Amino acid sequence: MNAPMVKTEVRGRVALITLDRPKALNALNNALIDELGEALRKFDSDENIGAIVLTGSDKAFAAGADIGAMQDWNYIDVYKQDYLGGNWEALMRTRKPVIAAVAGYALGGGCELAMQCDFIIAADNARFGQPEIKLGVIPGFGGTQRLPRAIGKAKAMDLILTGRMMDAEEAERAGLVARVVPVERLLDEALEAAETIASYSLPSVLMAKECVNTAYEGALAETLMFERRNFHALFATEDQKEGMKAFVEKRKPNFKHR
Ligand code: HXC
Repeated sequence: MNAPMVKTEVRGRVALITLDRPKALNALNNALIDELGEALRKFDSDENIGAIVLTGSDKAFAAGADIGAMQDWNYIDVYKQDYLGGNWEALMRTRKPVIAAVAGYALGGGCELAMQCDFIIAADNARFGQPEIKLGVIPGFGGTQRLPRAIGKAKAMDLILTGRMMDAEEAERAGLVARVVPVERLLDEALEAAETIASYSLPSVLMAKECVNTAYEGALAETLMFERRNFHALFATEDQKEGMKAFVEKRKPNFKHR
């Protein structure tokens, strides 16, 4: 059996889920996402848990979807498996609050995963971005929908079209993250916030989360599917193959359709 890529522990009424695939900067593949889905379901249905913290390492929350795994997929592969459905949406089905504690890189699918959480506490070394455009694709896991809702159209377009990263300070100014703390305080701060939430009456916590999401995520279901299908369609292009191959080969891509 392969080593687990997701670690879990319980501290009082708080569950801590840690992405643990350090060699690939916590790049997200289907196996890791299945483990994450299982952990979320377990804690969501556990009466003794009131809130969840999701974190990575000091170097990376997650550097995106696993480019090596995706590079040879074509349109039919991603469409048939409905890539980014199933356990990729486990956070959206989690009723208890989930805080993302983000240090280091939160890029591509990593940034999108953090945005699926209820709020983000960032370490001062955190770096956020949607660099998919550099690979010949687009954010396919909610980035084109949640980023503009979080930070406004101008900055979201800037990040998604240029692929640049923003640091924690810019992310806080833009409204993507709730707080920025020194990296060595990150976990304590996130666990304390989760403990506070877990000390309240669970029905009111669940309802507060649902109500905020109704305001914030209204109509998202359809627009997310529009994004996912466009993301899938890009796997029919030569430029997606070239973009991902170039990353794996550590060189600049030579896009055909410029
Ligand atoms: C697979 C990855 C990876 C990724 C890093 N690695 N990101 N493997 N998929 N997304 C691997 C590297 O290949 C390398 O493996 C090891 O992790 C360390 O990475 P380095 O690049 O050597 O580290 P560094 O020079 O510090 O640069 C860090 C980095 C860079 C800036 C984060 O790794 C990077 O740009 N990563 C890709 C970011 C990205 O494009 N993300 C979007 C992915 S597409 P080896 O074996 O060489 O040591 C995406 C689609 C979203 O997310 C929709 C679906 C969810």
